[in-house]
Amino acid sequence: MTPTSPQYDRRPAPSAPAAGPAPGAPAKARLAILLSGRGSNMLAVVRAPNRPLRDLAEVAVVFSNKPDAPGLEAAGALGCPTAALPSQGRKRAEFDAEAAALLQQYRPDFVVLAGYMRILSPAFIQPFAGRIVNIHPADTHQHQGLHAYEWAFDNHLPETKITVHLVDEGLDTGPVLAQQAVDLRGADTLAEVERRGLAVEHELYSRTLADLIEKTVKS
Ligand code: GAR
Repeated sequence: MTPTSPQYDRRPAPSAPAAGPAPGAPAKARLAILLSGRGSNMLAVVRAPNRPLRDLAEVAVVFSNKPDAPGLEAAGALGCPTAALPSQGRKRAEFDAEAAALLQQYRPDFVVLAGYMRILSPAFIQPFAGRIVNIHPADTHQHQGLHAYEWAFDNHLPETKITVHLVDEGLDTGPVLAQQAVDLRGADTLAEVERRGLAVEHELYSRTLADLIEKTVKS
């Protein structure tokens, strides 16, 4: 299956008119949003409840390594271009190089990881170095990788710190862009921990992306 196979590449036809900025308006930053699952952070970014991100950015593509990810369908239903490339059974570096090549066709300014459950190899990171952003449900100095809400719940933590960070070649080691604490006191189920955490994630991610884009434009 090639990256541009019609089964997985659901971009609008090339002849479709590009929705450019209004005359005189600055070009919007193009976001490639990557997910592997339900995509609630993707939805929060696309809907951008806080207006600045909607004015500053547009969705170039929503991409998944899982063609049946519910988030991909949700993105399509919102009118976002979507693409997928199955990662199952693939060698990491080979898959990552192919995924990066596919994404480059969409000319993203930023790659936004939104529950993209893969460790990224240099083959993916290098083409987008300094332009990959991730959201993590804990302080990345305290907990890396998967299951951060389970970790907070199992350890009866009074709070967790949602972290938005740039992605480098380590596991959740990149520079922190923003953090926000979530009060977990009295949260007596994992579902409640997640509910409180996700509410903060959804707001923090679009706000931090807007700040990052503004800073990048001004620098
Ligand atoms: C979110 O909680 C996100 O922070 C987490 O996966 C969930 C995805 O949910 N990411 C990580 O744990 C990355 N290490 P979503 O698909 O509803 O956005």
